[in-house]
Amino acid sequence: MPQAYDIVELISAKAIAARIEELAREIRQSFTGTEKLTVVGLLRGSFVFIADLVRELDMNVEVDFLEASSYGDATESSREVRILKDLRGEIAGRDVLVVEDIVDTGFTLDHVTRLLKTREPHRLETIALLDKPSRRETDIKATWTGFEIPDEFVVGYGIDYAQRNRNLPFIGCVRFREE
Ligand code: PRP
Repeated sequence: MPQAYDIVELISAKAIAARIEELAREIRQSFTGTEKLTVVGLLRGSFVFIADLVRELDMNVEVDFLEASSYGDATESSREVRILKDLRGEIAGRDVLVVEDIVDTGFTLDHVTRLLKTREPHRLETIALLDKPSRRETDIKATWTGFEIPDEFVVGYGIDYAQRNRNLPFIGCVRFREE
């Protein structure tokens, strides 16, 4: 059992929805002329974000998933990114958008984009709902970012603490209780 904690709202469901509308508009514009966009969600954390994002993308999309993990149930990155589930489809010659819930150290997104580039997509861009630049240990920056956040332990909207709270409709900060 994790230590007892409270959750304080950081980004409301309404603010997330409004930002996703803006991001979708920018993405549609950027991919004007793309016949089909392959949207790749990084499991598990991005499952809520990708579901909302693709429903705002008024264009031909194909959805695929890749599962990468570097945290397990720990709160610190192991810095070793493991691919637990690979894409179902081919991406050679395709326009690809990788969808990440949060960029923290950046190891996950860095590893995944390097891997996918070896498969020679026509174009590969990235989007992260949240960015914690103060924690970065790599040079990676997502093409599009929803919100820059401070160095807080966040949960909700797909993001977990020890597999809990992924189903919160907002992003909240974890505040551990003094025992
Ligand atoms: C979390 C999160 C991001 C990654 C970000 O994934 O979903 O994918 O960590 O951290 P980084 O920038 O330091 O690499 P996690 O490994 O916890 O797996 P999950 O998505 O299944 O929760």
